[in-house]
Amino acid sequence: MGAFIPRELIETIRGQVDLVEVAGEYLRLTKKGKDFVALCPFHQEKTPSFTVSREKQIFHCFGCGVGGNVFHFLMAMENLTFPEAVRQLAARTGVVIPVSRGADEQKKAGMESRLWEMNALARDFYRQFLHNRAEGALAREYLARRGLHKDIILRFQLGYAPAGWDSLIKYLKGHNYALEEIVAAGLAVASERGKVFDRFRHRIIFPIHNPQGKVVGFGGRALREEDEPKYLNSPETAVFNKRHLLYGLDLARPAIREQGFAIIVEGYMDVLSAHQAGVNNAVASMGTSLTVEQGRLLLRYTTEAVIAYDADAAGVAAALRSLDILCELGFSIRVVSVPQGKDPDEYIRSHGRQAWDSLVKNAPTFLEYKIEQASRVTGDKKKILQQVIPGVAGMTSPVEQEESVKLIAARLGLSWEVVKSELRRYQVEQRKKWPISDKIANKTHNIITDAKKIAEQEILRLILQNPGYLPVVEKELGAQFIENPLFKRIFKLMQQQSEKQGPADWMDELPDQERIVISRLLIERPPLGDSSEVLRDLIKTIKANDRMLQKDRLLQELARAEKNRDLERVNFLLKELEQLLSWPKREAGCAAEGGKELSI
Ligand code: GTP
Ligand code: MN
Repeated sequence: MGAFIPRELIETIRGQVDLVEVAGEYLRLTKKGKDFVALCPFHQEKTPSFTVSREKQIFHCFGCGVGGNVFHFLMAMENLTFPEAVRQLAARTGVVIPVSRGADEQKKAGMESRLWEMNALARDFYRQFLHNRAEGALAREYLARRGLHKDIILRFQLGYAPAGWDSLIKYLKGHNYALEEIVAAGLAVASERGKVFDRFRHRIIFPIHNPQGKVVGFGGRALREEDEPKYLNSPETAVFNKRHLLYGLDLARPAIREQGFAIIVEGYMDVLSAHQAGVNNAVASMGTSLTVEQGRLLLRYTTEAVIAYDADAAGVAAALRSLDILCELGFSIRVVSVPQGKDPDEYIRSHGRQAWDSLVKNAPTFLEYKIEQASRVTGDKKKILQQVIPGVAGMTSPVEQEESVKLIAARLGLSWEVVKSELRRYQVEQRKKWPISDKIANKTHNIITDAKKIAEQEILRLILQNPGYLPVVEKELGAQFIENPLFKRIFKLMQQQSEKQGPADWMDELPDQERIVISRLLIERPPLGDSSEVLRDLIKTIKANDRMLQKDRLLQELARAEKNRDLERVNFLLKELEQLLSWPKREAGCAAEGGKELSI
């Protein structure tokens, strides 16, 4: 229950704790230069890549990429929410957080806590019926027929909702919950004529937990083939939103960290069978394709995902959509296609753990999978290229992009140059499609050249390490020069901060992606020797790159104008080009000017 914690208090608390000290209580830290290192608690490793900076009050792991300030460390270590982490550190520093809630807030918090309690009571009620009641016999038989063992049924807290109309309602009323509350919790439904009855009747119950292990909602499976729908879920409530949850994540978390990746399957039964076979890093998106929110949630634990959806048409479509979402979030992804039209549950039960592991081990990367899927539909290499190039253009790592170009070339029997030029062509076309509109902000990462990408990142790093450079960069390049959307957001954030505060002070509630990149940029490399000179070179790179793109654009427009015999336009464009190409001379003067500024 989150009472509002005032900003100033959060800052006071942060100011009174030392990340090195807090981390030191969990890890064996060793001094290395100015920083401390340890074996990373969030993934398995033999040599320490978990780094803590006392000066910056930030941590970052070179192995798995996690990072943040002292609150984030505690959140990850103890699986806490942000307010919980703040409270825990408050207790240690003796700072008192006043419980000052408005009447509305108090009411809301009260209602929410009753919702939690009802969910827990309902889970126990259903569980009781499955294990200890005569009415549960059919359900017990059903689960046995599906090959589930008692320990897994207990671990996932499965239950059975009896067939009557109001057994749960009576039970909850007996615990002093009002009918309206039971409906608000999604556990009962009101008919049109105003009659209220249990939502789940004669169904196997799968409690759905949040990552901290609290029950937030339920899925219920029909026992009979003819019952519709096959699965019934809780409706959205104050604590249940399917888009933000992954089934099984509460149990899978440690295994995901240990093994360094998560397996994403479609359904409840897939998760249960996987865990029963010892594949403990499996979670389910609960039907349909993955949502961005689910992707972000997973990002807290890993950046590697294996998608294992059914091999039917719907499954493939869902897998492809999920791929794009995970890709945009920066995951590296592989895709398991379960053979013989089976789902992971059926496959694991009939072929066993080893066969499953080898499917996972040999799973193609997302790009290989995309090429495969596209090749299935068409033999036309051009069409296949059209389908895979956008994904490659979206990659933020130049190395990965280069590797992908090579892979596509090899798979399609094309030369490396041809694929590369198709990529460039696509990038130029994207540029043409969205000349200056807002859309470009989201799409332009497709057309940034490698040099510019690196320059953007390094400039960001320099400003983070030395906020004094911010005005210089703004003056030389304006506020809009960054094209990579993530870097752009970070740049904006920095513009909003006062110089006095370091990133550890203002990164509290940043989204994971931003926070992780900032921590990495700060810790990855110490400030460079003569950073003002480095900055000057980076600014030059960005400017040169802009000119190159502009030149490309002008040349294309020129070709079009010539084709249309629009002489006036041709002349105009030629002049523009001439001016652009004579830039180096003017640049020399500009750089000297910049030089003076930067040597402050
Ligand atoms: P079994 O058929 O019991 O093996 O379950 P399954 O998990 O293999 O089911 P399936 O592959 O058909 O669906 C995958 C997931 O989609 C399920 O686990 C549910 O989360 C969801 N789902 C399937 N059918 C329905 C439905 O009728 N309604 C809703 N809301 N969700 C469904
Ligand atoms: Mn199934």
